[in-house]
Amino acid sequence: MEPVSGARTFTAVAADYDAFMGRYSRPLAPLFADFASVRPGIRALDVGCGPGALTTELVRRLGAEAVAACDPAPPFVVACRNRLPGVDVRPGSAEQVPFDDPFDVVTAQLVLQFVSDPARVASEFIRVTRPGGVVATCVWDYSEGTRLLRAFREAALALDANAPEELRELRFGREGDLAQWLEDAGFDDVTETTLAVSASYADFDDLWASLLTGIGPAGAYTVRLPVSRRETLRAALHDNLGKPSGAFTLDAVARAGRGRRA
Ligand SMILES: C[S@@+](CC[C@H](N)C(=O)[O-])C[C@H]1O[C@@H](n2cnc3c(N)ncnc32)[C@H](O)[C@@H]1O
Repeated sequence: MEPVSGARTFTAVAADYDAFMGRYSRPLAPLFADFASVRPGIRALDVGCGPGALTTELVRRLGAEAVAACDPAPPFVVACRNRLPGVDVRPGSAEQVPFDDPFDVVTAQLVLQFVSDPARVASEFIRVTRPGGVVATCVWDYSEGTRLLRAFREAALALDANAPEELRELRFGREGDLAQWLEDAGFDDVTETTLAVSASYADFDDLWASLLTGIGPAGAYTVRLPVSRRETLRAALHDNLGKPSGAFTLDAVARAGRGRRA
């Protein structure tokens, strides 16, 4: 995910995220928390928390004192702290997790595709998980993904053969990728599944406005385009989504992997 401009207010950045990806990550959170075995009585760490979609679900199940979180983007750290008083939210990445105490469950929802060093992330997750504890992560599925990002990618590539790599690739999104990553790191009882959600839009303008926030690779690409090419992309995306003319819903499928620390 692109770093967020420091010129924007933290509240605006969190609202922009909610409008773009939060629409999907909020309904994904309870499904993913179930998959990660988040039950009352345990302590959980949410890595790459963003403004707190999954963190909110963890707090709902465990209470704020039993939840910690981190994210490398300062506006998201502030937004998550403001939204969830009592949660220990720290600046920091998955490659260098800013906690030392071991947690029962460590989660990373829609984060692994952005990390620079997956092997290092795995050893950091092991370091902050108690023996027998669970590490769970999810990313958008490579072939299904979100209908939004699929339609966007097709529209962008049809208009621009040099569109950046991050629009084409959904890292860790192929069947078996997450299980392999967990097995390579030495986790036991590794399982992988898919989780399906959907997001609603008031109309196509609602969707387009969420891209104009510049959030995520698709949004960042959109706002960098000159205005005339942006309008061409808008029309192509509208076509690819079946020319919706009122409220509509888009589906998304995430791939989730879980393992137990030896
Ligand atoms: C798609 S958002 C997911 C946010 C949140 N987990 C959710 O489900 O809404 C991706 C998040 O990963 C964070 N991120 C990017 N690179 C990261 C890294 N190397 N380590 C940890 N988090 C990272 C971003 O700042 C952003 O908050």
